Amino acid sequence: MALSRSTSTLSLTSFFLLLTLLSTSTLVISQPALNSAEQESVYQILESINSAIPWRSLYPDDLCISAPHGVVCDYFSENTTATIGTPHVTEMSFGYVSDYSPNPPCTPKSTINPLLFSSFPQLRKLLFYKCFTETTVTFPDFSTLRSSLEELVFIGNPSLVGSLRGNISNLTALKRLILTGNNVSGEIPDGLGDLVNLEQLSLSRNNFHGEVTLSLEKLKKLKILDLSQNGFEGSAPEPLGSLQQLLKLDLSFNNFSGKIPENLKGLKKLEFLDLSYNGFAQCGVPLFLAEMPSLREVYLSGNLLGGQIPEIWDNLGGILGIGLSEVGLVGNIPSSMGMFLRNLSYLGLDNNKLEGMVPEEFGALESVNELNLENNNLSGRVPFSAKFVSKVGGKLKLEGNPELCADEGLRSAKVSGSLGQLKLCNKPVIPHFVLLSSGSSVLHDSYMLIFVGFLFLLS
Ligand SMILES: *[C@@H]1O[C@H](CO)[C@@H](O)[C@H](O)[C@H]1NC(C)=O
Ligand SMILES: *[C@@H]1O[C@H](CO)[C@@H](O)[C@H](O)[C@H]1NC(C)=O
Ligand SMILES: *[C@@H]1O[C@H](CO)[C@@H](O)[C@H](O)[C@H]1NC(C)=O
Ligand SMILES: *[C@@H]1O[C@H](CO)[C@@H](O)[C@H](O)[C@H]1NC(C)=O
Ligand SMILES: *[C@@H]1O[C@H](CO)[C@@H](O)[C@H](O)[C@H]1NC(C)=O
Ligand SMILES: *[C@@H]1O[C@H](CO)[C@@H](O)[C@H](O)[C@H]1NC(C)=O
Ligand SMILES: *[C@@H]1O[C@H](CO)[C@@H](O)[C@H](O)[C@H]1NC(C)=O
Repeated sequence: MALSRSTSTLSLTSFFLLLTLLSTSTLVISQPALNSAEQESVYQILESINSAIPWRSLYPDDLCISAPHGVVCDYFSENTTATIGTPHVTEMSFGYVSDYSPNPPCTPKSTINPLLFSSFPQLRKLLFYKCFTETTVTFPDFSTLRSSLEELVFIGNPSLVGSLRGNISNLTALKRLILTGNNVSGEIPDGLGDLVNLEQLSLSRNNFHGEVTLSLEKLKKLKILDLSQNGFEGSAPEPLGSLQQLLKLDLSFNNFSGKIPENLKGLKKLEFLDLSYNGFAQCGVPLFLAEMPSLREVYLSGNLLGGQIPEIWDNLGGILGIGLSEVGLVGNIPSSMGMFLRNLSYLGLDNNKLEGMVPEEFGALESVNELNLENNNLSGRVPFSAKFVSKVGGKLKLEGNPELCADEGLRSAKVSGSLGQLKLCNKPVIPHFVLLSSGSSVLHDSYMLIFVGFLFLLS
């Protein structure tokens, strides 16, 4: 039975193969071939990425018909009389990402071949994923790149060095400039502010530094601005308020300073805001967050904001994550946080100078995965049920609040995690009038039980 099934699978496969071959050969007849100069350049580029693979013999035919994954062509009508366009290479992606994106695999010896920049008049996308890991490769001069380029992506290339040189203003079609986890340094060229089609600028985890002086004024289409984990300094780039399409702003882990710009509040679509671990100071938790109803995540940790937690949460029920760790907060935690932020999954208020009780409402936050209140001066009974404590487990962090207490049941339960460290609360005082006016028999029974317990304790 197993045999017959595999045979039928096989014949089905060969059927599709035949079908593919047939349709391919139709293509060969109807489409002009890739010109030999582009074809030869592709081979040479593949060889500088990985010389161990015999690219020429694996892909001997027109590379616009049969090419390694990652090499893509398109057809261009260069004159009106032509019915079928001329093929050109439009995309080249290198570095094996996954079985779904098996681009030509890179090696420790992979290099950038300059033919990449000169040979393809219609190149739109260039991607290098974990390609330059040992051999030092210099980031290309923008002036050598084709102005047809829409996406330039380098991810996870620690031996990619150099700076953003050359005239980037030429690349007027550029939509995505993604340089993440490389070793590129220097400053951001002001010319980048001319790229009116830019939708994503991600320069995270490199060695960039200096002030960001480019104007964001003309970048009306920008959706993602990520400068995180570099050495940028000075005030935040301006004018942030003009980025009406912005969904994600990440300036975290830099040395930006000054106030958090007020005009952020113009970003009505912004969902993700991360300014954590910078030198933003003395402005308190910004009140204008209340006017940004699309916000899902807000991380401001590690800035010396100071002040109390404001009451700004009524319209922010969609928020999933809030980071206000190490920001110098004083005063109480407002219960409105627990009342309105019903979908909260992460809340960090640790390492501040908060005092008073943990709001009762926190015990009813059903989506919480992590709640960190460590190292404050909170006091009183924690409002969490055993069910809540067992669900959140070790991510319920309460240590470093010497005046916080838990009831015996919560402290001794196996689920208690860090609650075991809390001191035992004094027994609750049961007001007399409740006992006397209690109408429900269930209530009455439970109070009777407590009452008996009291007697037991006293004896
Ligand atoms: C226009 O297209 C025709 C048909 O493909 C071709 O013969 C001709 O050389 C082309 N002219 C130019 C200027 O590219
Ligand atoms: C990154 O570049 C710096 C110099 O800018 C160099 O000291 C460092 O070794 C480089 N790191 C890697 C992983 O190549
Ligand atoms: C890029 O800009 C430089 C200087 O303005 C110019 O000489 C060059 O021709 C431009 N390159 C392209 C491809 O437009
Ligand atoms: C850079 O290129 C843009 C557009 O091609 C051009 O207007 C500008 O003059 C160039 N700048 C320099 C310094 O070459
Ligand atoms: C950050 O900036 C401050 C001054 O604003 C400076 O004293 C400090 O050295 C800078 N830190 C880094 C890591 O550049
Ligand atoms: C909370 O999450 C639920 C389920 O994902 C969603 O339907 C609801 O709209 C969210 N609440 C707010 C205020 O966004
Ligand atoms: C902590 O709060 C108590 C009152 O609950 C106060 O007496 C004490 O000074 C506070 N400690 C610190 C370090 O702020």
